[in-house]
Amino acid sequence: MSRDSFGSRFGALVAMAGSAVGLGNLWRFPYLVGENGGAAFIIVYVAMVFLICLPIFISEFVLGRRSQKNAYAAFRDLSGGSAWKWVGLLTVIVPLIVLSYYSVIGGWSIEYLLKSATFSFTGGAQQSAMSTMFTDFVTSTWGPLACHTFFLLATTLIVVVGIKDGIEKFSKVMMPLLFFMVMAIAFYSLTLPGADKGLDYLFNPDFSKIDGKSISSALGQAFFSLSLGFGTILTYASYVDKKEDILYQSSATAASDLMFALIAGVAIMPAVFAFGLDPQSGPGLVFETLPFVFSQMPAGGVIAILFFVSLLVAALTSSISMMEVAVAYLVEEKNFSRKAACVTLFAICWAVGALCALSFGPLADIKITGRSIFDLFDHLSSNILMTLGSLLTVLFVGWRLKKTDIYDEFTNGGTLSRNAKLFGLLWFLIRYVCPIAIISIFLSGLI
Ligand code: ALA
Repeated sequence: MSRDSFGSRFGALVAMAGSAVGLGNLWRFPYLVGENGGAAFIIVYVAMVFLICLPIFISEFVLGRRSQKNAYAAFRDLSGGSAWKWVGLLTVIVPLIVLSYYSVIGGWSIEYLLKSATFSFTGGAQQSAMSTMFTDFVTSTWGPLACHTFFLLATTLIVVVGIKDGIEKFSKVMMPLLFFMVMAIAFYSLTLPGADKGLDYLFNPDFSKIDGKSISSALGQAFFSLSLGFGTILTYASYVDKKEDILYQSSATAASDLMFALIAGVAIMPAVFAFGLDPQSGPGLVFETLPFVFSQMPAGGVIAILFFVSLLVAALTSSISMMEVAVAYLVEEKNFSRKAACVTLFAICWAVGALCALSFGPLADIKITGRSIFDLFDHLSSNILMTLGSLLTVLFVGWRLKKTDIYDEFTNGGTLSRNAKLFGLLWFLIRYVCPIAIISIFLSGLI
Protein backbone atom coordinates (compact mmCIF):
# COMPACT_ATOMS: atom_id res chain seq x y z
CA MET A 1 0.00 0.00 0.00
CA SER A 2 1.42 3.41 -0.90
CA ARG A 3 2.09 5.86 1.89
CA ASP A 4 -0.19 8.88 2.34
CA SER A 5 1.53 12.27 1.95
CA PHE A 6 0.88 16.01 1.96
CA GLY A 7 -0.73 17.15 -1.27
CA SER A 8 0.92 20.56 -1.61
CA ARG A 9 3.73 22.78 -0.37
CA PHE A 10 1.27 25.09 1.37
CA GLY A 11 -0.45 22.09 2.95
CA ALA A 12 2.82 20.74 4.36
CA LEU A 13 3.77 24.17 5.61
CA VAL A 14 0.53 24.91 7.43
CA ALA A 15 0.47 21.41 8.92
CA MET A 16 3.98 21.90 10.34
CA ALA A 17 3.17 25.41 11.49
CA GLY A 18 -0.01 23.97 12.99
CA SER A 19 2.00 21.41 14.91
CA ALA A 20 4.26 24.15 16.22
CA VAL A 21 1.69 26.84 16.97
CA GLY A 22 -0.36 25.66 19.90
CA LEU A 23 -1.02 26.09 23.59
CA GLY A 24 2.71 26.73 23.80
CA ASN A 25 2.26 30.04 21.99
CA LEU A 26 -1.03 31.24 23.43
CA TRP A 27 -0.98 29.79 26.91
CA ARG A 28 2.63 29.09 27.90
CA PHE A 29 4.67 31.78 26.14
CA PRO A 30 2.83 34.82 27.56
CA TYR A 31 3.05 33.57 31.16
CA LEU A 32 6.70 32.55 30.82
CA VAL A 33 7.46 36.03 29.48
CA GLY A 34 5.57 37.37 32.48
CA GLU A 35 7.50 35.24 34.94
CA ASN A 36 10.93 35.78 33.42
CA GLY A 37 11.25 39.51 32.99
CA GLY A 38 9.47 40.38 29.75
CA ALA A 39 11.57 41.52 26.80
CA ALA A 40 14.89 40.14 28.02
CA PHE A 41 13.32 36.69 28.00
CA ILE A 42 12.02 37.26 24.47
CA ILE A 43 15.52 38.14 23.22
CA VAL A 44 16.98 34.99 24.77
CA TYR A 45 14.07 33.02 23.34
CA VAL A 46 14.64 34.31 19.79
CA ALA A 47 18.34 33.40 20.03
CA MET A 48 17.39 29.88 21.19
CA VAL A 49 14.96 29.47 18.32
CA PHE A 50 17.37 30.36 15.54
CA LEU A 51 20.73 29.16 16.88
CA ILE A 52 19.71 25.93 18.58
CA CYS A 53 16.18 24.93 17.63
CA LEU A 54 16.32 25.59 13.89
CA PRO A 55 19.28 23.20 13.38
CA ILE A 56 17.44 20.57 15.46
CA PHE A 57 14.29 21.14 13.43
CA ILE A 58 16.28 20.67 10.21
CA SER A 59 17.86 17.51 11.66
CA GLU A 60 14.43 16.01 12.35
CA PHE A 61 13.25 17.11 8.93
CA VAL A 62 16.22 15.40 7.25
CA LEU A 63 15.61 12.16 9.17
CA GLY A 64 11.93 12.05 8.27
CA ARG A 65 12.23 12.99 4.66
CA ARG A 66 15.24 10.80 3.95
CA SER A 67 13.71 7.70 5.51
CA GLN A 68 10.06 8.35 4.51
CA LYS A 69 9.23 6.26 7.56
CA ASN A 70 7.75 6.63 11.05
CA ALA A 71 10.07 7.91 13.80
CA TYR A 72 11.07 4.47 15.13
CA ALA A 73 11.86 3.08 11.68
CA ALA A 74 13.71 6.25 10.67
CA PHE A 75 16.26 5.82 13.47
CA ARG A 76 16.40 2.06 12.95
CA ASP A 77 16.85 2.07 9.18
CA LEU A 78 19.14 5.06 8.84
CA SER A 79 21.46 3.57 11.48
CA GLY A 80 21.44 0.14 9.83
CA GLY A 81 19.33 -1.47 12.56
CA SER A 82 21.46 -0.44 15.56
CA ALA A 83 20.42 0.43 19.12
CA TRP A 84 19.54 3.95 17.90
CA LYS A 85 16.11 2.50 17.17
CA TRP A 86 15.37 2.84 20.90
CA VAL A 87 15.79 6.58 20.54
CA GLY A 88 13.22 6.34 17.77
CA LEU A 89 10.91 4.47 20.11
CA LEU A 90 11.39 7.16 22.77
CA THR A 91 10.25 9.78 20.26
CA VAL A 92 7.13 7.70 19.60
CA ILE A 93 6.24 7.45 23.31
CA VAL A 94 6.92 11.05 24.41
CA PRO A 95 4.22 12.67 22.22
CA LEU A 96 1.67 10.32 23.78
CA ILE A 97 2.62 11.55 27.24
CA VAL A 98 2.38 15.14 26.01
CA LEU A 99 -0.91 14.51 24.21
CA SER A 100 -2.43 13.06 27.39
CA TYR A 101 -1.97 16.21 29.47
CA TYR A 102 -2.21 18.58 26.51
CA SER A 103 -5.70 17.26 25.93
CA VAL A 104 -6.65 18.35 29.46
CA ILE A 105 -5.78 21.99 28.72
CA GLY A 106 -7.34 21.65 25.27
CA GLY A 107 -10.45 20.50 27.13
CA TRP A 108 -10.36 23.57 29.39
CA SER A 109 -10.43 25.73 26.29
CA ILE A 110 -13.64 23.96 25.21
CA GLU A 111 -15.19 24.73 28.60
CA TYR A 112 -14.06 28.36 28.39
CA LEU A 113 -15.38 28.66 24.87
CA LEU A 114 -18.77 27.46 26.09
CA LYS A 115 -18.59 29.90 28.99
CA SER A 116 -17.79 32.76 26.59
CA ALA A 117 -20.59 31.75 24.25
CA THR A 118 -23.01 31.89 27.18
CA PHE A 119 -21.79 35.39 28.12
CA SER A 120 -20.01 34.43 31.35
CA PHE A 121 -17.33 37.04 30.65
CA THR A 122 -19.43 40.11 30.11
CA GLY A 123 -20.75 42.89 32.31
CA GLY A 124 -17.84 43.67 34.63
CA ALA A 125 -17.36 40.55 36.73
CA GLN A 126 -15.17 40.59 39.87
CA GLN A 127 -11.64 39.31 39.50
CA SER A 128 -12.06 36.99 42.45
CA ALA A 129 -15.19 35.55 40.81
CA MET A 130 -13.11 34.59 37.77
CA SER A 131 -10.50 32.88 39.94
CA THR A 132 -13.21 31.02 41.83
CA MET A 133 -14.84 30.00 38.56
CA PHE A 134 -11.53 28.58 37.32
CA THR A 135 -10.71 26.78 40.56
CA ASP A 136 -14.22 25.35 40.83
CA PHE A 137 -14.00 24.02 37.32
CA VAL A 138 -10.53 22.45 37.38
CA THR A 139 -10.99 20.88 40.79
CA SER A 140 -14.29 19.26 39.82
CA THR A 141 -14.53 15.72 38.45
CA TRP A 142 -16.92 15.44 35.53
CA GLY A 143 -16.43 18.74 33.72
CA PRO A 144 -12.68 18.40 33.12
CA LEU A 145 -13.11 14.70 32.27
CA ALA A 146 -15.85 15.41 29.73
CA CYS A 147 -13.88 18.24 28.13
CA HIS A 148 -10.74 16.12 27.93
CA THR A 149 -12.82 13.38 26.27
CA PHE A 150 -14.27 15.77 23.66
CA PHE A 151 -10.92 17.28 22.86
CA LEU A 152 -9.24 13.90 22.41
CA LEU A 153 -12.17 12.65 20.37
CA ALA A 154 -11.91 15.64 18.02
CA THR A 155 -8.17 14.99 17.66
CA THR A 156 -8.79 11.32 16.88
CA LEU A 157 -11.52 12.07 14.33
CA ILE A 158 -9.21 14.36 12.34
CA VAL A 159 -6.26 11.96 12.46
CA VAL A 160 -8.27 8.90 11.46
CA VAL A 161 -9.15 10.51 8.11
CA GLY A 162 -5.48 10.57 7.07
CA ILE A 163 -2.71 12.99 6.13
CA LYS A 164 -3.99 14.68 3.00
CA ASP A 165 -7.72 14.58 3.72
CA GLY A 166 -7.61 14.93 7.50
CA ILE A 167 -4.57 16.70 8.91
CA GLU A 168 -3.73 18.79 5.83
CA LYS A 169 -7.28 19.92 5.07
CA PHE A 170 -7.96 20.84 8.68
CA SER A 171 -4.72 22.81 8.97
CA LYS A 172 -5.27 24.60 5.65
CA VAL A 173 -8.59 25.99 6.81
CA MET A 174 -7.77 26.55 10.46
CA MET A 175 -4.29 28.10 10.40
CA PRO A 176 -5.20 31.17 8.31
CA LEU A 177 -8.34 31.55 10.43
CA LEU A 178 -6.25 31.35 13.59
CA PHE A 179 -3.90 34.00 12.27
CA PHE A 180 -6.73 36.45 11.56
CA MET A 181 -8.39 35.82 14.91
CA VAL A 182 -5.21 36.37 16.94
CA MET A 183 -4.34 39.46 14.87
CA ALA A 184 -7.83 40.88 15.46
CA ILE A 185 -7.46 40.44 19.22
CA ALA A 186 -3.98 42.01 19.15
CA PHE A 187 -5.25 45.08 17.26
CA TYR A 188 -8.14 45.43 19.64
CA SER A 189 -5.87 45.07 22.66
CA LEU A 190 -3.64 47.86 21.33
CA THR A 191 -6.56 50.29 21.23
CA LEU A 192 -7.16 50.00 24.99
CA PRO A 193 -6.04 52.95 27.12
CA GLY A 194 -2.78 52.07 28.93
CA ALA A 195 -1.87 49.42 26.35
CA ASP A 196 1.57 51.02 25.90
CA LYS A 197 2.63 49.74 29.34
CA GLY A 198 2.06 46.20 28.10
CA LEU A 199 4.14 46.85 25.00
CA ASP A 200 6.86 48.37 27.13
CA TYR A 201 6.85 45.28 29.28
CA LEU A 202 7.10 43.01 26.24
CA PHE A 203 9.70 44.94 24.29
CA ASN A 204 11.87 46.83 26.83
CA PRO A 205 14.58 44.42 28.01
CA ASP A 206 15.84 44.15 31.59
CA PHE A 207 18.79 41.80 31.43
CA SER A 208 19.19 41.58 35.21
CA LYS A 209 16.28 39.11 35.11
CA ILE A 210 18.25 36.65 32.99
CA ASP A 211 19.88 33.73 34.79
CA GLY A 212 20.47 30.00 34.22
CA LYS A 213 16.87 29.18 35.07
CA SER A 214 15.34 31.69 32.67
CA ILE A 215 17.68 30.59 29.85
CA SER A 216 16.74 27.00 30.53
CA SER A 217 13.01 27.91 30.53
CA ALA A 218 13.49 29.72 27.20
CA LEU A 219 15.08 26.63 25.69
CA GLY A 220 12.42 24.29 27.13
CA GLN A 221 9.72 26.59 25.78
CA ALA A 222 11.37 26.74 22.35
CA PHE A 223 11.47 22.92 22.19
CA PHE A 224 7.85 22.70 23.29
CA SER A 225 6.69 25.40 20.94
CA LEU A 226 8.49 24.02 17.89
CA SER A 227 7.38 20.48 18.78
CA LEU A 228 11.00 19.31 18.89
CA GLY A 229 12.48 16.12 20.28
CA PHE A 230 9.28 14.13 20.19
CA GLY A 231 8.87 12.76 16.70
CA THR A 232 6.21 15.12 15.33
CA ILE A 233 8.39 17.10 12.91
CA LEU A 234 10.18 13.93 11.84
CA THR A 235 6.86 12.19 11.15
CA TYR A 236 5.33 15.12 9.28
CA ALA A 237 8.57 15.51 7.27
CA SER A 238 8.25 11.89 6.17
CA TYR A 239 5.11 12.94 4.28
CA VAL A 240 6.80 15.89 2.55
CA ASP A 241 7.70 15.69 -1.13
CA LYS A 242 11.37 15.11 -2.03
CA LYS A 243 11.54 18.25 -4.16
CA GLU A 244 10.65 20.63 -1.30
CA ASP A 245 13.33 22.86 0.22
CA ILE A 246 14.04 21.75 3.80
CA LEU A 247 15.66 25.05 4.80
CA TYR A 248 12.74 27.08 3.51
CA GLN A 249 10.11 24.89 5.15
CA SER A 250 11.96 24.76 8.47
CA SER A 251 12.71 28.48 8.65
CA ALA A 252 9.18 29.38 7.63
CA THR A 253 7.76 27.15 10.38
CA ALA A 254 10.14 28.55 13.01
CA ALA A 255 9.38 32.12 11.93
CA SER A 256 5.61 31.64 11.95
CA ASP A 257 5.76 29.99 15.35
CA LEU A 258 7.74 32.92 16.72
CA MET A 259 5.42 35.40 15.08
CA PHE A 260 2.37 33.72 16.63
CA ALA A 261 4.00 33.77 20.07
CA LEU A 262 4.76 37.48 19.75
CA ILE A 263 1.31 38.32 18.45
CA ALA A 264 -0.16 36.34 21.35
CA GLY A 265 2.00 38.45 23.68
CA VAL A 266 0.72 41.63 22.02
CA ALA A 267 -2.85 40.34 22.23
CA ILE A 268 -2.58 39.56 25.93
CA MET A 269 -0.10 41.87 27.71
CA PRO A 270 -1.49 45.30 26.71
CA ALA A 271 -4.95 44.15 27.84
CA VAL A 272 -3.56 42.84 31.13
CA PHE A 273 -1.75 46.14 31.77
CA ALA A 274 -4.69 48.25 30.63
CA PHE A 275 -6.64 46.84 33.58
CA GLY A 276 -3.72 47.10 36.00
CA LEU A 277 -3.38 43.35 36.47
CA ASP A 278 -0.35 41.22 37.34
CA PRO A 279 1.35 39.79 34.21
CA GLN A 280 3.14 37.25 36.38
CA SER A 281 0.08 35.23 37.27
CA GLY A 282 1.57 32.03 35.83
CA PRO A 283 -0.47 29.35 34.10
CA GLY A 284 -3.67 31.05 35.34
CA LEU A 285 -3.02 34.04 33.07
CA VAL A 286 -5.19 32.76 30.24
CA PHE A 287 -7.98 31.18 32.30
CA GLU A 288 -8.24 33.59 35.24
CA THR A 289 -6.76 36.96 34.32
CA LEU A 290 -7.98 37.13 30.73
CA PRO A 291 -11.63 36.27 31.42
CA PHE A 292 -11.64 39.14 33.92
CA VAL A 293 -10.07 41.42 31.31
CA PHE A 294 -12.70 40.33 28.76
CA SER A 295 -15.48 41.07 31.21
CA GLN A 296 -14.23 44.65 31.62
CA MET A 297 -13.72 45.46 27.93
CA PRO A 298 -16.24 46.96 25.58
CA ALA A 299 -17.25 44.09 23.24
CA GLY A 300 -15.26 41.77 25.52
CA GLY A 301 -17.81 38.99 25.03
CA VAL A 302 -16.95 38.76 21.34
CA ILE A 303 -13.21 38.98 21.99
CA ALA A 304 -13.54 36.18 24.57
CA ILE A 305 -15.19 33.92 22.00
CA LEU A 306 -12.51 34.75 19.41
CA PHE A 307 -9.77 34.07 21.95
CA PHE A 308 -11.03 30.70 23.14
CA VAL A 309 -11.80 29.54 19.58
CA SER A 310 -8.19 30.46 18.74
CA LEU A 311 -6.89 28.55 21.74
CA LEU A 312 -8.92 25.49 20.79
CA VAL A 313 -7.89 25.57 17.13
CA ALA A 314 -4.23 26.08 18.00
CA ALA A 315 -4.39 23.17 20.44
CA LEU A 316 -6.05 20.86 17.91
CA THR A 317 -3.59 21.52 15.08
CA SER A 318 -0.83 20.52 17.53
CA SER A 319 -2.53 17.55 19.17
CA ILE A 320 -3.19 15.89 15.80
CA SER A 321 0.54 15.99 15.06
CA MET A 322 1.28 14.25 18.37
CA MET A 323 -1.20 11.47 17.71
CA GLU A 324 0.08 10.98 14.16
CA VAL A 325 3.57 9.99 15.42
CA ALA A 326 2.24 6.89 17.15
CA VAL A 327 -0.38 6.19 14.46
CA ALA A 328 2.39 6.01 11.84
CA TYR A 329 4.34 3.67 14.12
CA LEU A 330 1.43 1.31 14.81
CA VAL A 331 0.33 1.21 11.15
CA GLU A 332 3.80 0.71 9.67
CA GLU A 333 5.46 -1.42 12.33
CA LYS A 334 2.63 -3.31 13.98
CA ASN A 335 0.28 -3.68 11.01
CA PHE A 336 -2.62 -1.88 12.67
CA SER A 337 -5.26 -0.38 10.41
CA ARG A 338 -5.37 3.43 10.74
CA LYS A 339 -8.69 3.15 12.50
CA ALA A 340 -7.50 0.52 14.99
CA ALA A 341 -4.38 2.59 15.71
CA CYS A 342 -6.47 5.70 16.39
CA VAL A 343 -8.90 3.85 18.65
CA THR A 344 -6.04 2.26 20.61
CA LEU A 345 -4.26 5.59 21.06
CA PHE A 346 -7.47 7.32 22.03
CA ALA A 347 -7.96 4.74 24.80
CA ILE A 348 -4.38 5.04 26.11
CA CYS A 349 -4.26 8.84 26.05
CA TRP A 350 -7.75 9.10 27.49
CA ALA A 351 -6.79 6.97 30.51
CA VAL A 352 -3.49 8.77 31.16
CA GLY A 353 -5.07 12.17 30.50
CA ALA A 354 -7.92 11.37 32.89
CA LEU A 355 -5.37 11.02 35.70
CA CYS A 356 -3.94 14.42 34.74
CA ALA A 357 -7.41 15.99 34.52
CA LEU A 358 -8.29 14.73 37.99
CA SER A 359 -4.95 15.75 39.49
CA PHE A 360 -6.29 19.27 40.13
CA GLY A 361 -9.21 17.95 42.16
CA PRO A 362 -9.94 14.41 43.39
CA LEU A 363 -6.34 13.25 42.84
CA ALA A 364 -4.68 16.46 44.03
CA ASP A 365 -3.17 14.72 47.05
CA ILE A 366 -1.14 12.35 44.91
CA LYS A 367 2.30 13.91 44.69
CA ILE A 368 5.28 12.33 42.96
CA THR A 369 8.60 14.04 43.70
CA GLY A 370 6.52 16.89 45.13
CA ARG A 371 4.54 17.38 41.90
CA SER A 372 0.95 16.65 40.98
CA ILE A 373 0.42 14.11 38.18
CA PHE A 374 -0.22 16.90 35.66
CA ASP A 375 2.86 18.89 36.72
CA LEU A 376 4.99 15.78 36.71
CA PHE A 377 4.02 14.95 33.11
CA ASP A 378 4.52 18.53 31.97
CA HIS A 379 7.89 18.81 33.72
CA LEU A 380 9.08 15.37 32.60
CA SER A 381 8.20 15.88 28.97
CA SER A 382 8.99 19.52 28.33
CA ASN A 383 12.01 19.88 30.60
CA ILE A 384 13.59 16.46 30.35
CA LEU A 385 12.31 14.14 27.60
CA MET A 386 12.08 16.73 24.80
CA THR A 387 15.53 18.01 25.70
CA LEU A 388 16.86 14.46 25.70
CA GLY A 389 15.08 13.64 22.42
CA SER A 390 16.52 16.76 20.78
CA LEU A 391 20.02 16.09 22.08
CA LEU A 392 19.98 12.49 20.85
CA THR A 393 18.60 13.61 17.47
CA VAL A 394 21.44 16.07 16.82
CA LEU A 395 24.00 13.55 18.06
CA PHE A 396 22.53 10.95 15.72
CA VAL A 397 22.53 13.27 12.70
CA GLY A 398 25.86 14.94 13.47
CA TRP A 399 27.91 12.00 14.70
CA ARG A 400 26.30 8.77 13.55
CA LEU A 401 25.05 9.48 10.03
CA LYS A 402 27.24 10.26 7.03
CA LYS A 403 27.85 13.94 6.34
CA THR A 404 27.41 13.31 2.60
CA ASP A 405 23.93 11.85 3.17
CA ILE A 406 22.83 14.84 5.24
CA TYR A 407 24.24 17.19 2.60
CA ASP A 408 22.43 15.27 -0.11
CA GLU A 409 19.07 15.49 1.66
CA PHE A 410 19.47 19.12 2.74
CA THR A 411 20.44 20.31 -0.74
CA ASN A 412 18.13 17.99 -2.72
CA GLY A 413 21.06 16.17 -4.27
CA GLY A 414 23.18 19.34 -4.57
CA THR A 415 20.58 21.21 -6.62
CA LEU A 416 19.79 23.92 -4.03
CA SER A 417 22.77 26.25 -4.16
CA ARG A 418 21.76 28.45 -1.19
CA ASN A 419 21.45 25.36 1.00
CA ALA A 420 24.79 24.08 -0.30
CA LYS A 421 26.44 27.36 0.74
CA LEU A 422 24.90 27.27 4.21
CA PHE A 423 25.58 23.60 4.85
CA GLY A 424 28.97 24.19 6.50
CA LEU A 425 27.41 26.47 9.10
CA LEU A 426 24.50 24.10 9.68
CA TRP A 427 26.84 21.14 10.14
CA PHE A 428 28.91 23.07 12.69
CA LEU A 429 25.77 24.03 14.62
CA ILE A 430 24.42 20.46 14.58
CA ARG A 431 27.69 18.79 15.53
CA TYR A 432 29.05 21.18 18.13
CA VAL A 433 26.92 24.15 19.11
CA CYS A 434 23.60 22.35 19.65
CA PRO A 435 24.84 19.45 21.81
CA ILE A 436 27.08 21.67 23.96
CA ALA A 437 24.38 24.31 24.35
CA ILE A 438 21.64 21.79 25.17
CA ILE A 439 23.76 20.04 27.81
CA SER A 440 25.03 23.22 29.45
CA ILE A 441 21.65 24.94 29.46
CA PHE A 442 20.00 21.82 30.82
CA LEU A 443 22.57 21.60 33.63
CA SER A 444 22.36 25.31 34.43
CA GLY A 445 18.60 24.96 34.79
CA LEU A 446 19.14 22.34 37.50
CA ILE A 447 21.32 24.60 39.65
N1 ALA B 1 4.18 22.90 19.67
C1 ALA B 1 3.01 22.69 20.40
C2 ALA B 1 2.62 23.91 21.17
O1 ALA B 1 3.28 24.90 21.12
C3 ALA B 1 3.15 21.51 21.27
O2 ALA B 1 1.65 23.90 21.83
